[in-house]
Amino acid sequence: MSVRHFLTLKSLNRDELESIINRALELKKQVKQKKIITTLDNRVLGMIFEKSSTRTRVSFETGMAQLGGHAIYLAPTGTQIGRGEPLKDTARVLSKMVDCIMLRTFAHQKLEEFASYSDVPVINGLSDSFHPCQLLADLLTYTEARGSIENKKVVWLGDGNNMCHSYINAAKIFNFQLIISCPKEFVPAAEIYESSKENVSFEDDPHKAVGNADLVITDVWASMGQENEQNERKNKFKKYQVNSEIMVCAKSDALFMHCLPAHRNEEVTEEVLEGPQSVVWEEAGNRLHSSKALLEFLLN
Ligand code: CP
Ligand code: NVA
Repeated sequence: MSVRHFLTLKSLNRDELESIINRALELKKQVKQKKIITTLDNRVLGMIFEKSSTRTRVSFETGMAQLGGHAIYLAPTGTQIGRGEPLKDTARVLSKMVDCIMLRTFAHQKLEEFASYSDVPVINGLSDSFHPCQLLADLLTYTEARGSIENKKVVWLGDGNNMCHSYINAAKIFNFQLIISCPKEFVPAAEIYESSKENVSFEDDPHKAVGNADLVITDVWASMGQENEQNERKNKFKKYQVNSEIMVCAKSDALFMHCLPAHRNEEVTEEVLEGPQSVVWEEAGNRLHSSKALLEFLLN
């Protein structure tokens, strides 16, 4: 059988994604019970980061250690990647040594090219276009707190970025309704939402968008690589800030999520981020369990 990669949520089908979420729930319990699990005994994960990371790095590195394997952190500085060795060469070399490779990079196309040269599974640890690993944790968090996300109303406020694109994919796969409220200039890529059209709609007024929502999500207004647009974006996105006035429009038991890191009092107020509807810390912690379940799925 040909090697399976995880480049977007669409790389796997709904049953497979659900099995990963269920396994993550089991693994989470087992961590609490301090059970020793060695499902990835002797296995090695190579992790290439061309952008910064806290959660992704620590979840995969800890995950490999907890499952009996090992992870190697590779950054452009200190490796030949930073000196210009092509990723396609790195892909072929690493696949001769490690069992799985996680890549965090800029253009999504680089990931696709990398995967096409790799003999071992490649995981998208975030690209400019998608962040599927975060979606596994978000779906796990929603499921734990509220049960199935099917037919729920999920509202995305802010930039039509990599996280938004992954939510668009998730809406179709898990059949929930996704309402996107963002400035016209920053709508998600048409080719991505076109394929999820039945599950995705747009509402410019954030108050209306959030009406009756089960889940409200946002992300930074300037992603990694867009730092020089930070100030200009702050003005353009102001009206899409998640604050108490917006949250009050959602269902009283609606949840708030953010992949983190968050910029307090920009895309979300301190009050909402630290408030009772926010599940962001559980969501961040769930990166560990969902990453472990994904690794087991791809490697075993
Ligand atoms: N949410 C997320 O991917 O965080 P990091 O950038 O810290 O990995
Ligand atoms: N959209 C953000 C997500 C960070 C986890 C970025 O790409 O920087």
